[in-house]
Amino acid sequence: MGALNINVFNPVRIHFGNGFISEAGKIAKKYSDTALIVTGKTSMQKSGTLGRLVKILKDAGVNPVIYDKITPNPTIDEIDEAARIAKEKRVGLIIGLGGGSPLDSSKAIAVAAKGNIPVWDYLKTPATEALPVITIVSTSGTGSEVNRYSVMTNPKTKEKPGFGYECMYPKEAIIDPEIMASMPPYVTAATGFDVFVHVLEAFTGKARNAFSSAYCMQTFYLLKDNLIKAYNEPNNLEIRGNMALASALAGLAIDLSGVGIIHALEHPVSGNYPNVAHGAGLAALVVESMKYNLEACKRDFMLIAHHLGVKRAGKTDDEYAYSLIEKIEEMLKAINLNIRLKDLGVEKDRLPGMAKEAFATMGFAAQNNPETVDEKEALKLLEASY
Ligand SMILES: [Fe+2]
Repeated sequence: MGALNINVFNPVRIHFGNGFISEAGKIAKKYSDTALIVTGKTSMQKSGTLGRLVKILKDAGVNPVIYDKITPNPTIDEIDEAARIAKEKRVGLIIGLGGGSPLDSSKAIAVAAKGNIPVWDYLKTPATEALPVITIVSTSGTGSEVNRYSVMTNPKTKEKPGFGYECMYPKEAIIDPEIMASMPPYVTAATGFDVFVHVLEAFTGKARNAFSSAYCMQTFYLLKDNLIKAYNEPNNLEIRGNMALASALAGLAIDLSGVGIIHALEHPVSGNYPNVAHGAGLAALVVESMKYNLEACKRDFMLIAHHLGVKRAGKTDDEYAYSLIEKIEEMLKAINLNIRLKDLGVEKDRLPGMAKEAFATMGFAAQNNPETVDEKEALKLLEASY
């Protein structure tokens, strides 16, 4: 399995447990007396988590500066603005609070606040320095809490690339399931499904290895018992905790082994349509992409089907591998994400441009896909998912 040369590195200290946010002040104080909290415009305010964090930091003697303008698909303008504020206020620490968008942004801001060029230029100029980052995650899906990746959108070109340098690993991640109980059902569904696609793509991709596969297998077990339940029982903290673990494990898996064509195609979708949730875009693309990869992934699909509890019941290898696709369709129906690209408001004449962008900005993910895929085939996948 996988390559012979394996390089495993992840320096993130993970704190997992109910109520752990109360330790945030003590943890932050290790790094700085002034911290920039990076968050979105509404949910952390509405749930009271932002106010609570501000108090926790102040009580520990850390002065909080708030940047709460991060949008669901964060733009480079937001990141550069926050980095400017971080420099002006001389903050020594960035705290990402919320879902994937603020967490991703906190890492990009940490780089831009340390350097002297716009954040977009770091796609070409590798970053070697960043301010320390602490992540406090409020959704269970992104995996961003424990890895180095950041995704940002250029509003002029609509490009939505991902990037991640070694200096961008968060120093510490606080994973507190209690914070996640405030997630609305649609967010639970979309972020939970993102977890599945992370492990699907890390487990089957060309850069897979024994370490990422171990994370993936545990994640499949957790998803089997908790993904649909988290959607139906939002206040069940045990289930929230299991989904939070699944998110982190999947985040570690993609940190080691990357994603594939589903993510490569999704980024142009939500890059061009910023109101589309990442997980919803993935849901629209997953079935056709799995059919495309079926032959290359037959044994892996059988193994995943087994982990997700699909009974073999006399099926041939081909039938059992295909039953994973049916299982995923069933799962999507159960969480109300059985959707197509047109349901997300995507216009058909934009598909060729998106197929091109998938390779321009997410080429590393397309190349990691188990089955070789070029722009023509990517367009066919987008059309079949429309
Ligand atoms: Fe994702």
